[in-house]
Amino acid sequence: MIIAVDGPTASGKGTIAKALAAHFGLPHLDTGLLYRAVGRQVFLDGGDPDDSGDALAATAFPDSLLDDPHLRDEETGGLASRVSVHPAVRQALFERQRSFATQKGGAVLDGRDIGTVIAPEAEAKLFVTASVEARAQRRFLEMRDRGVPVTLAEIEDDLRRRDERDRNRAVAPLVPAEDALVIDTSALDREEAFAAALEAVNALTGQL
Ligand code: DC
Repeated sequence: MIIAVDGPTASGKGTIAKALAAHFGLPHLDTGLLYRAVGRQVFLDGGDPDDSGDALAATAFPDSLLDDPHLRDEETGGLASRVSVHPAVRQALFERQRSFATQKGGAVLDGRDIGTVIAPEAEAKLFVTASVEARAQRRFLEMRDRGVPVTLAEIEDDLRRRDERDRNRAVAPLVPAEDALVIDTSALDREEAFAAALEAVNALTGQL
């Protein structure tokens, strides 16, 4: 069984994907991390994330970079959003995601285009979303806990910019697959969001 979990930044898709993977005993891939690694590598190379050649070269990042704590930074998230508009970058990361998705026994992947591009045949497709305000608030509390000096307004601005870029890019834009179930987590806590996701997966795969 392939479970595709797509949605914007800070929608709760990562938490939901991880919890679903644990519940069903499936391996999980956070595909945003791959784009973040490319963004980070461009930065380390002193390259330009808007230049497709520089961004493509950075897809050859070493696996050890996936453990770099900087990948979770807002700054790296912004770079990831910029490198991810280049079709050559998406192509270069395709096979890695595709083979993870199609491994024997199934998998859970979260990202932006899992249900539309990486695994259109997925049995269960969820599109996890939440209002910009709810997502900014979550990200703000997360950053405050980590001691990062940032304001709610800055986070909201940044989220809007990234949403805009992810939704409007020419290749694999952030849109729900036609057969995806949409879960709005704006008013849900973690447990409620997971319960809604599990119910959706069970409904989609006929296990209810
Ligand atoms: O989910 P995230 O915030 O870690 O993703 C970072 C960026 O990577 C996001 O702004 C767009 C890009 N991305 C993508 O284009 N396709 C994916 N499947 C996952 C992420």
